[in-house]
Amino acid sequence: MMTRKLLLDMDTGIDDAMAITYALADGSADLIGVTCCFGNVTNQTAVRNTLDLLSLMGHPDIPVFCGAEHPLNEDSFEVSEGCLRIHGQNGLGNVTLPHVGKASDIPAPDFILKAAQKYGPDLILVATGAMTNLAAALRKDPETFSKIGKIVFMGGALTVEGNVTPYAEANIAVDPLAAKEVLESGLPMTMVGLDVTHKNLLTRKDAGRWERHGKAGKALFDIVAHYIDNELEQKSCSLHDPLAVAVALDETLIETHPFAMTVITEGEAAGRTVARSFADQCRNKNVSVALETSPRFVPEFVGKVEAFLTETEKNTTD
Ligand code: RIB
Ligand code: CA
Repeated sequence: MMTRKLLLDMDTGIDDAMAITYALADGSADLIGVTCCFGNVTNQTAVRNTLDLLSLMGHPDIPVFCGAEHPLNEDSFEVSEGCLRIHGQNGLGNVTLPHVGKASDIPAPDFILKAAQKYGPDLILVATGAMTNLAAALRKDPETFSKIGKIVFMGGALTVEGNVTPYAEANIAVDPLAAKEVLESGLPMTMVGLDVTHKNLLTRKDAGRWERHGKAGKALFDIVAHYIDNELEQKSCSLHDPLAVAVALDETLIETHPFAMTVITEGEAAGRTVARSFADQCRNKNVSVALETSPRFVPEFVGKVEAFLTETEKNTTD
């Protein structure tokens, strides 16, 4: 049992799947659960994918929680054409995994608060989808939410263009209000945005190292190959969500600069993450924005996942 407890909140598509695998592979914090939300896929598909992946990776015991079905200010959600292309119809590159297990009855925001209350400073929350579950937990009980030891999110773009519009990154664009409420909460958090995730790329050759390691390795490779093959401009994929998990577990992987961040919620620039500039608004520079990463990350990521898949293969054939 580790002292550090890790809780992932995600819209389980392909890079989220790699993030789950990395969290298990790194092993320096106990993965206590995964809360799901809409984004790359519907919330229900995110739950299904998470249950199936955890089982594939030898951890069917880790609980999975249903979260937001749609953005705070809307009453429905449809998966975008872009997500269907990049992540496949099922969010896992059209690779079908055996369906295993079922989600907990506890709603995602309640589990986030329960974990905050129980583990306090030892809890690390990593969000790699829309920030809707986090905003719901914050609205419900800000005092308990503030007990979380560390919050890291993959999202936003401060010094570079967005990936769904010239202004906005996908996780923020999908629910700008939720992200605004979380960023403006004043709580300390780390932003792992496109500023750094676009600099950390995985090639087919690297992912190919996982392919020969049993059922789990083959499936993970097939899932990731879809992601790489659907990148239009490069023959590699950005390691968005795995980088956020890695940073949460090892802060020395990035260099950050503190800002008082907010999110534009309306108009052409909706979803844009910006640093606030008025003196009274920017006294609390609560968001550490990652601007540089260590070259260690990609090789460590590939190697740790390979070692983990080797172990998983041994344990499943024994
Ligand atoms: O912009 C990249 C992010 O959007 C990643 O978290 C990806 O999984 C999608 O949710
Ligand atoms: Ca994601």
